[in-house]
Amino acid sequence: MAGRGLEGVVAAQTALSHVYGDEGRLIYRGYQIQDLADQVTFEETCHLLWFGELPNQSQLDKLKQQLNREAAVDPRVFDSLRAVGRTAHPMTLLLAGVAEVAALDPDAEDMTPEANLRKAIRLTAQTLTLTAGIARIQAGQVPITPEANTSLAENFLYTMRGAGADELSVRIIDVALTLHAEHGMNASTFAARVAAGTLTDLHSAIIAAMATLKGPLHGGANEQVMEMLEEIGSAERADAWVRSALERGEKVMGFGHRIYRTTDPRAPILKALAEQLNQQNGQKSEWLQVSEKIQATMREEMDRKGKKVYPNVDFFSASVYSTLGIPRRLFTNIFACARMAGWTAHILEQYADNRLIRPQSEYTGPPERPVPSRASRS
Ligand code: COA
Repeated sequence: MAGRGLEGVVAAQTALSHVYGDEGRLIYRGYQIQDLADQVTFEETCHLLWFGELPNQSQLDKLKQQLNREAAVDPRVFDSLRAVGRTAHPMTLLLAGVAEVAALDPDAEDMTPEANLRKAIRLTAQTLTLTAGIARIQAGQVPITPEANTSLAENFLYTMRGAGADELSVRIIDVALTLHAEHGMNASTFAARVAAGTLTDLHSAIIAAMATLKGPLHGGANEQVMEMLEEIGSAERADAWVRSALERGEKVMGFGHRIYRTTDPRAPILKALAEQLNQQNGQKSEWLQVSEKIQATMREEMDRKGKKVYPNVDFFSASVYSTLGIPRRLFTNIFACARMAGWTAHILEQYADNRLIRPQSEYTGPPERPVPSRASRS
């Protein structure tokens, strides 16, 4: 039998990305994540994942036009989310919103590769608009229609805040989207591939992935990191807080990974962005100070116990998003917006060479036995 949690099992072949866990490296189609974060936009990353190569200028212009054209969400979706969702978790509303845009999608049940690509592009653009609209609905505001001719990152900040954003904030969201876009056979991507393997439609496979991402051991961790930072409150309290959480046998959110046995390469990129943001703001945010203290205590404690537990992508994304004024409950939605590129690329890859994914289980129940009469049951 495979190890618990399918550790070490190779469940699929993919040309999309690979995590080199011992070395702390991540590549998308052969390109190092650091190079992509430094040199390309989220739209270029989407092109790389969907089409296999980085776009030339005209390919990029075409994709940006398509994304811009598809970004608006039917107002009926927002009306219905408004009717049910003032207090629900934003990820629950995003799941509902994606189900509703599926119901309205002209290509919904069309399983041709062309239609599936159109749906991938549409969903990637619309999930950002949905997330910003959900934030506004929950703040008692009206959702905003995205602008034409801007980037997805800029449009996200505009449709969330209702005002233009500075260059650094846009750049930070753009890099965060690229960093979270794809990550090998993580739990939500596996869920997407299992669903796609039944030849269910693309939206349905995405809903399986989003539901899996929501958990605190996966995409939900970034929200939990922020909750922890808020609970700790100040850098002076961080060391004692971490030591006592570890003594109680609790996991510290934003640390550890099934594959990485060293620092997640995305974490220092996010930390550097947080530092840039602080520099622009003229002060070091309390959250970054608390994060640095937690990191130092975790390093000491994990080294002492001989455990290879290091910061993961969620650890610094929390303080970055918070410094940008994004509400904590929205963090996992942003992860979903970014991962939409990777999930849809995996679903297209699965459809292109499909075989139903259906493993077996090892039975640990009682041996075969007769059904007792109702009267004789204890
Ligand atoms: N804080 C403290 N200890 C941790 C830890 C953390 N965040 N993550 C792992 N460890 C410890 C485990 O307790 C375990 O110790 P043990 O051998 O004494 O039992 C050891 O390190 C190995 O961890 P394990 O639970 O086997 O790792 P996993 O591969 O099953 O789980 C995660 C990986 C990501 C689910 C896990 O590290 C975790 O829960 N992290 C916090 C949530 C998080 O940040 N998730 C986002 C991932 S990108």
